[in-house]
Amino acid sequence: MSDDMQQNEMKQQVAQAALEWVRDDTVLGVGTGSTVNCFIDALASSGVRLEAAVSSSKATTRRLREIGIEVRELNHAGTLDLYVDGADEFDPHRRLIKGGGGALTREKIVAAASRKFVCIVDETKRVSVLGRFPLPVEVIPMARSYVARQIVAIGGQPEWREGVETDNGNVIIDVHNMDLVDPVDIERRLNDLAGVVSNGLFAIRPANLVLMATREGVQKY
Ligand code: A5P
Repeated sequence: MSDDMQQNEMKQQVAQAALEWVRDDTVLGVGTGSTVNCFIDALASSGVRLEAAVSSSKATTRRLREIGIEVRELNHAGTLDLYVDGADEFDPHRRLIKGGGGALTREKIVAAASRKFVCIVDETKRVSVLGRFPLPVEVIPMARSYVARQIVAIGGQPEWREGVETDNGNVIIDVHNMDLVDPVDIERRLNDLAGVVSNGLFAIRPANLVLMATREGVQKY
């Protein structure tokens, strides 16, 4: 079996495992990405009867509606019991890098508004120290060059994700080779830059539980 097929099978496996945390008659927070797409497929065939969902992106909203789930505005949903989302990397403290798909800001908002964040990943996402995956930063368009210069000043190599506009109408800068040994500090420093909307570090508010698919089954962290 090719590596891609194996990774896809692992995504389906971990998506299925996450259903254990989903309850009938609740409003569920739903993330974005290929693993979450597997989770939405699993939801569709699970028989779970959600009251509604809060979505972290236009793409997820479309998929949820396709399977007949009502998508509710976060402003009308209050605090959510559960948020399920993928990640691009996770470390042993369940701190994450997210935003490979560009949805980091809405993902961070829905995660913040949820009591429990269950992160679903496959084993390729595990690292001992965050930073192998370039760190996405969402920036107001007019601040792009300014923010890039500030990122260089704090030790990163910025790369504009050219041609990409987020659901919020902003741009993404991917930061390479930044020292993320203290991800809480970097998350705060990036947030402090004028023009930064949010960044893909989920360290101040890490996941509560990581479900990681391996070739030998799903492990919990
Ligand atoms: C979307 O912006 C991201 O935060 C995703 O959660 C992350 O990129 C994981 O995506 P995959 O499940 O497609 O790897």
